[in-house]
Amino acid sequence: MKTLGVVTSGGDAPGMNAAIRGVVRLASAMGFEVLGFERGWEGLINNRFKRLTPRSVGGIIHLGGTILLTSRCPEFKTREGIKKAADNLAANNVDGLVVIGGDGSFRGALELSRETDALIVGVPATIDNDVYGSDETIGFDTAVNTAVAEIDKIRDTAISHERVFVVEVMGRRRGFLALTVGLTVGAEVILVPEVPIKMEEVFKTVKENAAKGKKSGIIVAAEGVGDTRRIAEEIEANTGAEVRLSIVGYAQRGGSPTARSRLLASLFANEAVNLLASGVGNCVVGLQKGEVRSMSLEEVCSKEKPLDTRLLGLARTLAT
Ligand code: ADP
Ligand code: F6P
Repeated sequence: MKTLGVVTSGGDAPGMNAAIRGVVRLASAMGFEVLGFERGWEGLINNRFKRLTPRSVGGIIHLGGTILLTSRCPEFKTREGIKKAADNLAANNVDGLVVIGGDGSFRGALELSRETDALIVGVPATIDNDVYGSDETIGFDTAVNTAVAEIDKIRDTAISHERVFVVEVMGRRRGFLALTVGLTVGAEVILVPEVPIKMEEVFKTVKENAAKGKKSGIIVAAEGVGDTRRIAEEIEANTGAEVRLSIVGYAQRGGSPTARSRLLASLFANEAVNLLASGVGNCVVGLQKGEVRSMSLEEVCSKEKPLDTRLLGLARTLAT
């Protein structure tokens, strides 16, 4: 193996830069040349890349976003797109490719692996934390802390005005972020896409809390549960509480990565480069019961990471 490619794809996540840095420095130490493809899969299709050296990835470990840029790339979902990417890998003599991204990016990587001789290793990085085969993804801890810091402030104004706040956090399809954030801010209610909402139960909790003197409250809702403005309006109409909606939004995708996100980035980069150097590919690295391991791309792409919904019950009891 002589040349490694690295690409960041899909939604960005804090710690992607730390992962790029790790891949480049570890691969360079082994004598590989590293090409950084730009704008996700688009860069492979259009053959846009820059040569990365240990020096060119200096001063980025603490930066959110990705110096390689990222994108959603519809063309990669076509046979022609995949074929172009495979041809460009061959044209640049890329023998190994590190894909830093989420489950969508890994589905793309699986398709590409069927058309190229280059070995591919995935590095899970998404604030959604929804990659099967890894207990945690790069960026998740940072996003949790961003949302928690925001909601702690909202709690102050909620208490002084005796209001209930519905706070929408990211998670279009999965509730990992909402669940961890909800638990750690002491939310009275947590709404996740995995569990159908029972509005009557939400009304009951809000009314019971008010009756026992707890007139303020925080309801954390993943964006994937539906129209949070309507949810807030319905709660107000059915409980007599004064309800406001606050959306944390894209701040959750940015910011300086926490130490935890940087650590995962460095450990995952190490595993990815070691696997490629020893001729192993078509897998995704991850944290399994506290240890850095890997799993086949096929398995990661075919299974859904389960959400521990028992924690919703724990959060409810803790918030009584
Ligand atoms: P994430 O990696 O953050 O989950 P997306 O789901 O948006 O992000 O996926 C990133 C990109 O991966 C998509 O824009 C597309 O280019 C590619 N991709 C996703 N699913 C597939 C697929 N089934 N086949 C080929 N490419 C895919
Ligand atoms: O990065 C994951 C994620 O934040 C989802 O939770 C969210 O629904 C989605 O990306 C939104 O991203 P975009 O607007 O870039 O498609």
